[in-house]
Amino acid sequence: MKVIAFLGSPRRDGNTELLLKEITKGIEESGSSARTFILNEMDILPCQNCGGCDEKGMCVYEDDMLQIYDAIRTADRIILASPVFFFSISAQAKIMIDRCQCIWVEKYILKKPIPEGKYGRKGLLIMVGGMKKDTGIQCGNTVAKAFFRTINVPEHKTLGFTSVDAKGAILKHPTAMKEAYEAGKELVRI
Ligand SMILES: Cc1cc2nc3c(=O)[nH]c(=O)nc-3n(C[C@H](O)[C@H](O)[C@H](O)COP(=O)(O)O)c2cc1C
Repeated sequence: MKVIAFLGSPRRDGNTELLLKEITKGIEESGSSARTFILNEMDILPCQNCGGCDEKGMCVYEDDMLQIYDAIRTADRIILASPVFFFSISAQAKIMIDRCQCIWVEKYILKKPIPEGKYGRKGLLIMVGGMKKDTGIQCGNTVAKAFFRTINVPEHKTLGFTSVDAKGAILKHPTAMKEAYEAGKELVRI
């Protein structure tokens, strides 16, 4: 089973990455492995709405999205992990998602959705925010839903944590790390 993950936080070893590592641990202890893309360290141009993908559903820009397109097309499980930034996902995550407009064209205009594969396609959204309110997680979930459905992931689970702000504060959360570990195990369960 092929599992890929997108880290949307620019803060290395921050709350999002700590949660993602725990998910990955659950995945690995279930006998699978996950490849993580550190979006902040990749060369990804924001979508230019140039119309270059309108006819063939292929983006005309050749940057690090090439490896991401390939990974998205062949993955069975896809994880999107992001902090809440201004009531949504981070810019790093959003830029990657916007560049999936060519996959949107492929699915909805050319009627060629990404094949389901042997294990079906499932998603997991992880979000962590500093505020008490979960508005940012709700907004992020709406964006993630559009992303997952576009890349032909019909269902996804959302794990969101509020009131977690300082670097590493997630480690003090009473259940978060355990929930993340269990979510990783559940994601790859057949
Ligand atoms: C630019 C920026 C915007 C933020 N906006 C929000 C917000 O709207 N709502 C919220 O709950 N937390 C917000 N936060 C707090 C982060 O979500 C929080 O610190 C989180 O734990 C960061 O995760 P990380 O350590 O993985 O980067 C913001 C932080 C930054 C740097």
